[in-house]
Amino acid sequence: MRIRKAIIPIAGKGTRFLPATKEIAKEIIPIINVPMIHYIVQEACEAGIEQVIFVTASGKFSVEDYFDRNQELEAFLERNNKIKELDLIRQIGSMVDVTSVRQKEQLGLGHAVLCAKSMIGDEPFAVLLGDDIVINHNPAIKQLMDLSLKHDGSTVIGVMEIPREQTNKYGIVKGEVIDEKTLRMTGMVEKPRPEDAPTNLATPGRYILTPEIFEILEKIPRGAGNEYQLTDAINVLCQKKNVYAYKFEGERFDTGSIPGYLDATIDFALKDPATRDTFVASLKYRLTKYGITL
Ligand code: UTP
Repeated sequence: MRIRKAIIPIAGKGTRFLPATKEIAKEIIPIINVPMIHYIVQEACEAGIEQVIFVTASGKFSVEDYFDRNQELEAFLERNNKIKELDLIRQIGSMVDVTSVRQKEQLGLGHAVLCAKSMIGDEPFAVLLGDDIVINHNPAIKQLMDLSLKHDGSTVIGVMEIPREQTNKYGIVKGEVIDEKTLRMTGMVEKPRPEDAPTNLATPGRYILTPEIFEILEKIPRGAGNEYQLTDAINVLCQKKNVYAYKFEGERFDTGSIPGYLDATIDFALKDPATRDTFVASLKYRLTKYGITL
């Protein structure tokens, strides 16, 4: 058995990035010069995913266009002998087979995943959130795929350790410890107070799911925020089947939030030799300018 397809929901309104998201898709906003969605699709590709299914909404066409060929731009770069840029553009255009389905109303992440049901068929699949970047040499989603395949294609939810005082910002998993990285889940709790949290393991947007989740998503009522929550469906699944939580390796950036986006930008600027020195010089100057001592 192989996991070949990935659903990437990108239909959210991105209100934290307004006014930019009034006119452009949040996922196209770049970390320096590379759109955030590039990193997510790249992770899926490096994990061996063959087909990416975007769950989109109006105004998101630029995400599909980004992964398409742009023959006019290619011809321009060729004419001007910009070979490096040409290779880069061609490579993005042939990165992966991309399809999309429309979520006509933004009724929550659970509903977004359900919108892609007809594209999946009878096989386990990956879900990666369009605004959560995870950097690691072995892609986070591949780590979950490997565990799922070890357990006959079971559902695996990617988790990360967070400081206990932040549990009220995340979905938190509970369950029985199998080894230092794996739990057999008994359920999930949405944003518990630190004193009520069963663990400090949060779910930042990487999943291996099976088609059974669609039947559950079709039946669950609306949950938190009056939306159909993937968390609620996973909770139901935990009562019927083995569901695993896995502490994946990698550095995660919540680029759907302004602090997470800034953090990613600073990290990427510092790690790239092409930007590091100018960035550090600029930072030093700005710290002095604003009278900030570290
Ligand atoms: P978020 O909660 O980050 O929502 O959704 P958002 O709309 O993108 O951003 P804010 O909170 O308004 O700033 C998590 C992921 O689920 C997708 C989003 O696109 C994002 O990738 N999503 C959410 C959908 O595709 N459909 C929905 O109905 C809700």
